[in-house]
Amino acid sequence: MESLIQDTIRKSRVPARLDFFQSATGLILGLFMWAHMCLVASIIIGKDAFYFVAKLMEATFLSPTGEGYPILVSFAAIGIFTLFIIHAALGVRKFPANWRQLKILKQHVIMLNHGDTTLWFIQFITGFIMFFLGSVHLYFMITHPSMIGPYASADRIISEWFWPLYLVLLFSVELHGTIGLYRLCVKWGWFDGKDPRKTRRKLQAFEKILSVVFILLGITALIVFSYIGIEHKDRVGQRYSPHYSAIK
Ligand code: HEM
Repeated sequence: MESLIQDTIRKSRVPARLDFFQSATGLILGLFMWAHMCLVASIIIGKDAFYFVAKLMEATFLSPTGEGYPILVSFAAIGIFTLFIIHAALGVRKFPANWRQLKILKQHVIMLNHGDTTLWFIQFITGFIMFFLGSVHLYFMITHPSMIGPYASADRIISEWFWPLYLVLLFSVELHGTIGLYRLCVKWGWFDGKDPRKTRRKLQAFEKILSVVFILLGITALIVFSYIGIEHKDRVGQRYSPHYSAIK
C-alpha cells in the first residue's frame, strides 16, 4: 500500500519535470534565436560583415589552409535540432487532441478575451508552423554547412525560392520566442517584485517591443539578401570573395 502511494506521488511529479524541461529547452532556444538573428542581420552592415560571421562560425581562424571546418556548423545545427525536437515533443502534450477540443479552445480565447490566453493561442499556432518550416531550414543547415555566405545565402533565398519559407518562419519564430520568454518570466515568477500585476504589464509591453524589433531586423535582412540575390541571379553558384584579406 505504502509503495503504491509513493508510486502515485512519484508519478505526479512527472508533469512538473516535463514542464521544467520544456521551459529550459525553450529558454535556450529563445536566447539562441536572438543571437542567430543578430548574426544573420550582419548582412545589413555589408557582404564582408556577413562573410566574416560565416567564416567565424566555421572557425576558419583555426584552419592552416584557411578553408575552415563547416562540419562545426552541422554539429551546432544538430544540437539545436535536438533541442527543437525535444521542446516540440513536450509542447505537443498541451495541444488540443481533436477538432472538437480545438473549437472549444478557440471559443474560450474569444469569450475570455484575456491577454495571456490569446498569447498562448498564438504560441500554439506559431509552434505548429515552426515545427514544419524550422525542420526544413535546420535539415538544410545540417546537410549544407558550407553553403553559407553573402552569395550562397542570397541565391538560396531568391533563386532557390527560400524567401516565402523564411518570411513565414521569421514571423512565427519571433512571436513564438518573445511570447515564450514572457510566459517563462510570468510562470516562474522572475522579476515579480512587489507588484506582480504591474510587472506583468511591463513585461507584456517589453515582449511586444522585442517582437517588433526582431521582426523589423529580420525583414530588413531578408530585403538585403533579396536585393543581392536578384542582382546575382545570372551568376548563381559563384561564391563571394571578401574585400579584406585577414580572414579568408
Ligand atoms: C544552428 C542552427 C542554425 C543555423 C546554422 C542557421 C543559419 C541561418 C542562416 C545562415 C541564415 C541566412 C539565410 C541562409 O543562409 O539560408 C538563416 C536565416 C534564418 N533562420 Fe536560421 N539557422 C539555424 C537555426 C534556426 C532556427 C532553429 C530557426 C527557427 C526555427 C531559424 C530561423 C531562421 C529564419 C526565420 C531566417 C531568416 C532570417 C531573415 O533574414 O529574416 N534558424 N539561418
